[in-house]
Amino acid sequence: MSGSLVVVGTGPGKPELMTPATSAALARATDLVGYGPYLDRVPVLRVDQCRHASDNRVELDRARHALELAASGRQVAVVSGGDPGVFAMAAAVFEAVEAGDPVWRSLDIRVEPGVTAMLAAAAEVGAPLGGDFCAISLSDNLKTWATIERRLVAAAEADFVIALYNPASKARPHQIGQAFELLRTKKKQETPVLFIRAAGTAEARVISTTLGSADPSVVDMRTLVIIGASTTRQVGRWIYTPRGERSAS
Ligand SMILES: C[S@@+](CC[C@H](N)C(=O)[O-])C[C@H]1O[C@@H](n2cnc3c(N)ncnc32)[C@H](O)[C@@H]1O
Repeated sequence: MSGSLVVVGTGPGKPELMTPATSAALARATDLVGYGPYLDRVPVLRVDQCRHASDNRVELDRARHALELAASGRQVAVVSGGDPGVFAMAAAVFEAVEAGDPVWRSLDIRVEPGVTAMLAAAAEVGAPLGGDFCAISLSDNLKTWATIERRLVAAAEADFVIALYNPASKARPHQIGQAFELLRTKKKQETPVLFIRAAGTAEARVISTTLGSADPSVVDMRTLVIIGASTTRQVGRWIYTPRGERSAS
């Protein structure tokens, strides 16, 4: 088969944070497939390039469409925000391959990494991910709330820094409040909490607070929440987590 499919991450939003490898893959593609707002971030690179914009939450349909185009001989780029492997389209493509036409397993499929929201958000405030950390999506579209609660408790008990993706949406405004209530039973009230909105863009906004005072109403779909470990602290205007368990002296 002469077609190919590359899943690219466009980074958190600022053009400078898109990697040269992603830009090159986008320029080579005959077809761009993605969620409309993510496609809008890609400048027109070739007049002969077709754009296939779709709605949010139709990831598997989008992945299947991209695979069909590639199987028909097109050079397809599937566009994700941030990194395509983090709560995004790369896994959806492989889910579609696993369940779909066996021919798709012979396709030339590649993934180009991008700067994920968690890294852009951490850089806005210092180095809160400097020690061991984990990332949890609060969305219960693809898993149960019981699973999310179990992972939050495990992360708190293991004293990881926790990065929360998808903290709220119009359909799920209450879960971030429920997550804070749960974490308050496991972690100290003075634990640093950071709300970082539109990280890695010109509109980036940071609210720095504590677990005891965190107001869940400030989050939206463009917010990444970072909850510190027991060692996470402020130095000057920065927040960081030391690399080791011992305090700096
Ligand atoms: C479906 S996930 C996609 C994550 C994406 N693949 C990545 O690597 O960043 C969407 C969530 O990522 C977070 N997010 C994406 N871009 C962001 C940004 N620029 N600033 C803060 N959070 C962001 C938000 O929590 C949002 O609800």
